[in-house]
Amino acid sequence: MIEKTFGKGCRVLVVGATSGIAKELCREFARHGFNLVLAARDEEELAILGADLKIRGNVEVRVVTFDALDYDSHPAFWESCSDVDGVVCCFGVLTDEATARRDPKACRVLIETNYNANVSLLNEVANSFEERKRGFICVLSTVAGERARRSNYLYGSAKGGLTAYTEGLRSRLFPAGVSVTTVKPGPVDTGMTFGMDKLPLLAPPEKVASDIYRGLRRGADVVWTPAPWRIIMGLLRFVPASLWKRMDF
Ligand SMILES: NC(=O)c1ccc[n+]([C@@H]2O[C@H](COP(=O)([O-])OP(=O)(O)OC[C@H]3O[C@@H](n4cnc5c(N)ncnc54)[C@H](OP(=O)(O)O)[C@@H]3O)[C@@H](O)[C@H]2O)c1
Repeated sequence: MIEKTFGKGCRVLVVGATSGIAKELCREFARHGFNLVLAARDEEELAILGADLKIRGNVEVRVVTFDALDYDSHPAFWESCSDVDGVVCCFGVLTDEATARRDPKACRVLIETNYNANVSLLNEVANSFEERKRGFICVLSTVAGERARRSNYLYGSAKGGLTAYTEGLRSRLFPAGVSVTTVKPGPVDTGMTFGMDKLPLLAPPEKVASDIYRGLRRGADVVWTPAPWRIIMGLLRFVPASLWKRMDF
């Protein structure tokens, strides 16, 4: 299954390639000889990233523009890069919670980017991989999707939905030999968390990227990164709702 599609010479589509975690993951892929298709909104940043990866890894790199919220463009986008062995979805937004509560448009962008857009694109990918009976899919969710907190339940609920979607997708694609990996990072030091204080166990993106790469290599269903989050969230699952609602975090 994953052994056939994961290794040197494979081609991977990284969607949201300009994200802090994705850039490090692309470097990890390039270092291991993977060819890359990089997709994001910012053409200039894509070109710089692509040139850097070509030099570092001596691998083939293509770039293609992608706007997650332009749903109608997803089928043609996928058609243009469906020659890949695997897809990694890294795009997402963490809108300020107070703003998203008040501003309906900001709230829609938050929910849609983190949930609807992933589902829209991944449905295309899944249909294709299922038919050809090979491929791997990796989706960046978050520990915040495990239990919704007072201070970021809008983001958490969209990511919780995404985690549930990937669990169902994994089950659907298992008989076809297609793997689906759900990544659950804790806070990571990227543009997304810039300027936020009091973030527990803030991880460098290099560490998260290397955990994701190793998880994909072993065909993991779920990657907790850094690993202690698996234990932390496992314990938090047992906090009763009557106590959870009193917790101010
Ligand atoms: N950082 C964390 O603490 C953390 C923790 C857990 C999970 N995650 C998840 O991990 C993933 C990557 O996070 P990160 O911290 O690396 O993110 P980041 O550096 O903030 O980058 C977010 C990426 O999403 C892209 N994006 C946003 N809206 C888009 C749209 N409509 N169309 C296409 N691309 C769009 C951005 O592109 P533009 O540059 O064009 O805006 C950017 O490349 C996200 O799904 C995030 O939710 C992050």
